[in-house]
Amino acid sequence: MKIIHAFVFDAYGTLFNINSLDERLTHYFGDRAEAISATWRRKQLEYTWLRALMQRYVPFSQVTQDALAYACQSVGEKLTEEVRNDLRQRYEILSAYPEVPATLGELSQNYRLAILSNADPVFLEQAVQHNQLSNYLVSVLSADKLQTYKTVPQVYQLAVDTLQLPPEQIAFVTSNPWDVAGAKSFGLTTVWINRGSIPEQLGFPADFEITRFQELGTVLGK
Ligand code: LAC
Repeated sequence: MKIIHAFVFDAYGTLFNINSLDERLTHYFGDRAEAISATWRRKQLEYTWLRALMQRYVPFSQVTQDALAYACQSVGEKLTEEVRNDLRQRYEILSAYPEVPATLGELSQNYRLAILSNADPVFLEQAVQHNQLSNYLVSVLSADKLQTYKTVPQVYQLAVDTLQLPPEQIAFVTSNPWDVAGAKSFGLTTVWINRGSIPEQLGFPADFEITRFQELGTVLGK
């Protein structure tokens, strides 16, 4: 059993539910919403990796806008200013999954908790406040500090530097298989919240896999 002293969480898709925008997408795009949603998310991630490789950083909010424009174009839909602005504003205050606040509350009694995300610091802070998570977190970290994105190893190093713990004593929790691979390759202990995806074939599988966020406390001890 590994000795874990802190939990560090990915934000989007792990704490905050990006699917909470689906209703809005359906409102605007009808039966094309599903395709737009899938392409939007995939392109958003691709652009982070491409920009990291190209060393052409723009904030995650910009990447998110650019990916949405691409996703609309891919199905021949026009993205009006009104729709763009509405979706942008909603993205900034996404809801947490219902089980998240109570689980963080419990974990925070025995561990230090932090967020490590690609998102713009100001929007991360807004989402944390909006979902009343601030009291449980010792730190909210963004890759923006380094002007690059996960899975660049130095981004995961931010958690180590902030918490002053060896990487294996930090449990990095994410629902994103690519983020599991990045964090494990760096040396963190990884917990994959499997919400219905499949693992990456990159050679760095998760140390722990669970399907319910509430199981976090039990999987690692207390
Ligand atoms: C995050 C997204 C990309 O870093 O999941 O929060």
